Amino acid sequence: MVALFICYNPFMPKQRPLDPESKPDDRVDNALRPQKLADLIGQDQVKENLSILIDAAKHRGEALDHVLFYGPPGLGKTTLAHVLGNEMGVNVKVTAGPAIERAGDLAAILTNLRAGDVIFIDEIHRLGRAVEEVLYPAMEDFSLDIVIGKGPSARSLRLKLPRFTVVGATTRLALVTAPLRARFGAVYRLDYYDIEAMRLIVARAAGMLKVSADESGIREVAKRARGTPRIALRLLRRVRDFAQVRADGTITQSVAKEALDLLQVDPLGLDDVDRRVLRTIIEKYNGGPVGLNTIAASISEEQDTIMDVVEPYLLQLGFLDRTPQGRVATKSAYEHLGLDYVEEGQPRLL
Ligand SMILES: Nc1ncnc2c1ncn2[C@@H]1O[C@H](COP(=O)(O)OP(=O)(O)OP(=O)(O)O)[C@@H](O)[C@H]1O
Ligand SMILES: [Mg+2]
Repeated sequence: MVALFICYNPFMPKQRPLDPESKPDDRVDNALRPQKLADLIGQDQVKENLSILIDAAKHRGEALDHVLFYGPPGLGKTTLAHVLGNEMGVNVKVTAGPAIERAGDLAAILTNLRAGDVIFIDEIHRLGRAVEEVLYPAMEDFSLDIVIGKGPSARSLRLKLPRFTVVGATTRLALVTAPLRARFGAVYRLDYYDIEAMRLIVARAAGMLKVSADESGIREVAKRARGTPRIALRLLRRVRDFAQVRADGTITQSVAKEALDLLQVDPLGLDDVDRRVLRTIIEKYNGGPVGLNTIAASISEEQDTIMDVVEPYLLQLGFLDRTPQGRVATKSAYEHLGLDYVEEGQPRLL
């Protein structure tokens, strides 16, 4: 009976799939997740800071301080949360802002924690107000205030919790309320990976997935993965498929180029949505400034997707400027798309 319960315990760590090739893509991603700090590629500054945090906590025999990661999707926030758990040798309980609907849901999770455990809250900016109010004292004093009963007979009860660690992740730091942000002892921003780190990530994944690829093929996939490990892994799988079906199974530079062109991923990693955003600003709104909601409506995409996924990369490439009046396409964006750029103040040729 007990064994049965353990089998179905949702908090049990996920089993690594024995044969990643036969599982859906997200399972493969899980299997490829680095487990320890030393396995993580890139993000050197974050890694160094974390290793100090971990060593200090271990030295003192305490739980890790609360940690908040923020940055665009797919850069390794979830991975880092698990790495922290592995390094500390504790359990990681995974949940997400929208999944904790009521304060009682959070209380149930917190009262089940053991000393030192990590609770990973993804999309922490989407926690409800009532839930946040329970979380504040829990993070600060490791105590939980529970109200029992209703009306005049209601009593407040304070429960002591074991010392635990909240690891929060968000793509939108600005939406994390100031009091919640203030309760994190460490806040780290994850940035896009440089080409060298991306190359190592693709090479590592190719090795683990037993994909045959040469150096130039790996570089081509790495170059077009917009500095994002998750995209690199996805592109690698698609290019592998292409290599198997249309070539001799080996990913070379020309195979990678052909496959990625077919997927409409251009040499800088821009995809169809990125290009549509730029083209809309340039062709429909004369290069801007134009508001985000107008862009979103024009191309029938969610504003959130544009803000979280598209914009940060275009800003990083210097293809987009954010002004108080709205978004503006830069000269480099025109050049990349092969469009004529007209300096401000000059007459536009129609
Ligand atoms: N530093 C790294 N080295 C190698 N692989 C990595 C690294 N960071 C992430 N990955 C790989 O990229 C994938 C995506 O990472 P992860 O799920 O942690 O991103 P995320 O930031 O949590 O994204 P989201 O915001 O969408 O939840 C993982 O499956 C992992 O295999
Ligand atoms: Mg994640």
